This record gives sequence, structure tokens and C-alpha cells, in this order.
Amino acid sequence: MVSGRVLLFLSMFIVSLSFVFVSHPCNAHPLKICNFHEIYQLGDSISDTGNLIHENPIGAATPFAHLPYGETFFKNATGRCSNGLLMIDYIAGLPFLNPYKSTDDADFRHGVNFAVAGSTALPTEILASENILSPVTNSSLSVQLGWMSTHFNSTCKTRGDCVEKLKNSLFMVGEIGGNDYNYALLPGKSIEEVKKIVPNVVEAIKNAVRRVIHYGAVRVIVPGNFPIGCFPIYLTRFQTNDTAVYDEDQCLKELNDFSKYHNDNLRRAIKDLKNEFPNVVIVYGDYYHAFRFLFQNAWYLGFDVMSLQKACCGIGGNYNFSLTRMCGAGLPVCSNPNQHISWDGVHLTQEAYKFMTGWLIRNMLHKLQCSV
Ligand SMILES: *[C@@H]1O[C@H](CO)[C@@H](O)[C@H](O)[C@H]1NC(C)=O
Ligand SMILES: *[C@@H]1O[C@H](CO)[C@@H](O)[C@H](O)[C@H]1NC(C)=O
Ligand SMILES: *[C@@H]1O[C@H](CO)[C@@H](O)[C@H](O)[C@H]1NC(C)=O
Ligand SMILES: *[C@@H]1O[C@H](CO)[C@@H](O)[C@H](O)[C@H]1NC(C)=O
Ligand SMILES: *[C@@H]1O[C@H](CO)[C@@H](O)[C@H](O)[C@H]1NC(C)=O
Repeated sequence: MVSGRVLLFLSMFIVSLSFVFVSHPCNAHPLKICNFHEIYQLGDSISDTGNLIHENPIGAATPFAHLPYGETFFKNATGRCSNGLLMIDYIAGLPFLNPYKSTDDADFRHGVNFAVAGSTALPTEILASENILSPVTNSSLSVQLGWMSTHFNSTCKTRGDCVEKLKNSLFMVGEIGGNDYNYALLPGKSIEEVKKIVPNVVEAIKNAVRRVIHYGAVRVIVPGNFPIGCFPIYLTRFQTNDTAVYDEDQCLKELNDFSKYHNDNLRRAIKDLKNEFPNVVIVYGDYYHAFRFLFQNAWYLGFDVMSLQKACCGIGGNYNFSLTRMCGAGLPVCSNPNQHISWDGVHLTQEAYKFMTGWLIRNMLHKLQCSV
């Protein structure tokens, strides 16, 4: 006989596990209670499910259009910058959100994904005026919002029709802005210098939230940036023998502080927006702490603690990463991507995204106020 206390303990354990593990997207998951009819996503490579590789020949020539990208879940490249599913896939569940630029007759009844890998929060011309070059795409946040406008103009008869239709929808405004900083920091602009564009990036995100609310959004998630100082691309680019610049997780402190600086600004912007739109639910998506959770619970989550800093797909250096030989055709891939957090040095593995989503849903569910 199993005693009542053991049963209670076991059921508590199972409940807590079910919060941590958002497993296969087909399974019932906690967001089900929100009953979102549609999801609309704006963003960059963290959430692109196929726009970049379909938008132009430059996109189609990126490694994201080819294996080993997609090898684990789809057994083929889909344009997702990972070996498998992204956080938006775990959030949406089945059917997955179709990319706006998808070639075949896509079904947009469950929403649309407007995110483009490589895109920025600020328009390309504005960045160029700061000597920051956006090399992959010009489809910045404002371009994506234009696509959204076109989409809603063609699917709603009037604005009121859209407002009514979008009552049960979720809008994801980001993560976006990470590339504005990548394109400045990686070529060598100082953190101090890049801090000057943070208010502009945050203002662009704030305006995007205002626009989606104008279209009819009533639930909006606005994710912040990752602790970029833990990513192989930054660890490699700014590698140093000075141990004082690394934190307890062997991440670059100054870069993580920069991410926090952006996130603090973003949170203040969200606070302002909540005052401006008291009837709209606006929730900060804490990607920073969701990612740190992976590092701090790596062993328990099944990651290989001896190579937490290493990219699964890549070659060279202390981090299995080289800026001149990035993941793509012909480069070695680790034998078990599920034991790695970083997929290609820039993006995460499906397993990492799965656990991050579990953490985020646990963190955001009550804030989304779905039961009211
Ligand atoms: C794999 O994806 C490519 C485009 O990225 C497509 O042309 C091809 O048909 C796909 N293959 C399979 C087996 O689905
Ligand atoms: C972005 O726009 C500029 C100016 O129109 C163009 O020269 C450039 O090729 C575009 N970049 C991409 C990646 O499409
Ligand atoms: C959508 O419709 C509105 C109102 O008619 C208009 O102002 C806007 O320019 C349209 N958007 C696009 C992208 O056509
Ligand atoms: C670190 O120290 C080693 C040995 O002193 C040296 O060879 C290497 O170039 C140094 N690396 C950096 C990034 O300064
Ligand atoms: C790193 O690169 C090597 C090839 O140099 C590869 O065999 C290995 O699986 C890669 N991944 C990790 C996490 O070490």
C-alpha cells in the first residue's frame, strides 16, 4: 500500500513537473485555458518559422534553408533557426503558425507569423544612419507591421470587425531588437555607444504595441532580450584571459548587464503602455531569466553540464564556434542535440526552447488573466 503522504508527495511532484515540462505540442498544455483562437507573432530569428527563406534569394541562400537546421523535428529545413521547434511552436501548439511569406496556400485561420530572421526593431535606414548595417533582411518591425495591416485589411470588413474578431487572440511583439544590438556590438561598437540606441529600440517596440492594440489586440506579450553574454557567438568574439569579466556561469557580465539595461527600459515602457491602455493585458516575457533557469538547472534538465557554453553545430575554439565557419552544410553537428542549450552559437536547440517555454508559461499564465 502506498501511504497518503507518499501519494501527496508524488502528485505534487507530478504537478510541478508538468509545469516545467511542456512536452510535445500535441499534448494539452496550460495555455489551453486561454483558448486563443489566433496568435500573431512579430519578431526575428527567435520566432521565424519560414519568412526569411521565402522572402528573397538572400534568405533562401542562408544556412537556415538547409539541413542540419530542422534535422531533429521536421527532418528537413523549414526556415526555423534551430534543430527543431521554437518557443512559438510550443506556445501555439498544433497547427503551427504559418509564416506570412509561405509559398503554398497557407491557412491563416489560427493566426500569422510575421517574424523574419535577421530583422531589427529599428528600420534599416535609421540603423544605417548610425553606421549599423543590417545584412540579412530589410523586413524590420515596421515592415512586419505593414504586412499585418495588409493582412487585417483583407481579412476584416471594418476595423470594428477586426476588434471583435481579435478578442480571443494573442499578440507576441518580439523578441525583437536583439539584432539591432548584434549588428552594432559584434563589429566592435562599444557597449557605451550602443546604449545610446536602446531608447530608440524600446520606443520602436512601444509603438509596435500601440499599433497592434489599434488593430484590436487585447492580450500582448512583449519579450525582452536574452543574456547574450552566455552565447557562444559573444563568448568567442569577446574571449579574454581576464577571469574577472566572467560571472558564476562563465558568461560575460558586461554583455549580460547590457541585456538587463535593455530589459529594464522595456519594462518601464510596458508600465507606461499599461497606463495608456488599462483595458489591454500587456505582459513582459522574461527571456532573460527563462534562459538563466536553463543554465542553473542544466543537470536536472538533462543538459551536458560539461559543454553548456558550446554550440552543438559548429567548430573551433573553446565554444565550438567560429564567426567565419558557422553552422551549415558540412559542419559537424553534435550527436545528441537534446543535451545542448546552444544549437549554432546564436540560436538555441529545440530542447532549450521547450524548457524555456515551460518556464515562461508558468511565469506568465496568471498575468494573462485568461479566466476572466
Ligand atoms: C525539404 O525542404 C525543401 C525546402 O526547404 C523542399 O524543397 C523539400 O521538398 C523538402 N523535402 C522534404 C522531404 O520534405
Ligand atoms: C535593403 O535595402 C537596400 C536599399 O534599398 C538594398 O540595397 C539592400 O540590398 C536591401 N537588403 C536586403 C538584405 O534585402
Ligand atoms: C488598411 O486600411 C486602413 C484604413 O482604410 C488604411 O489607412 C491603411 O493604409 C491600410 N493598410 C494597408 C497596408 O493597405
Ligand atoms: C591568453 O593567454 C594565452 C597564454 O598566455 C595567450 O596565448 C592567449 O593569446 C591569451 N588569449 C587572449 C584572448 O588574450
Ligand atoms: C563540437 O565540434 C566537434 C567537431 O570539432 C563535434 O564533433 C562536436 O560534437 C561539437 N559539439 C560539441 C558540443 O562539442
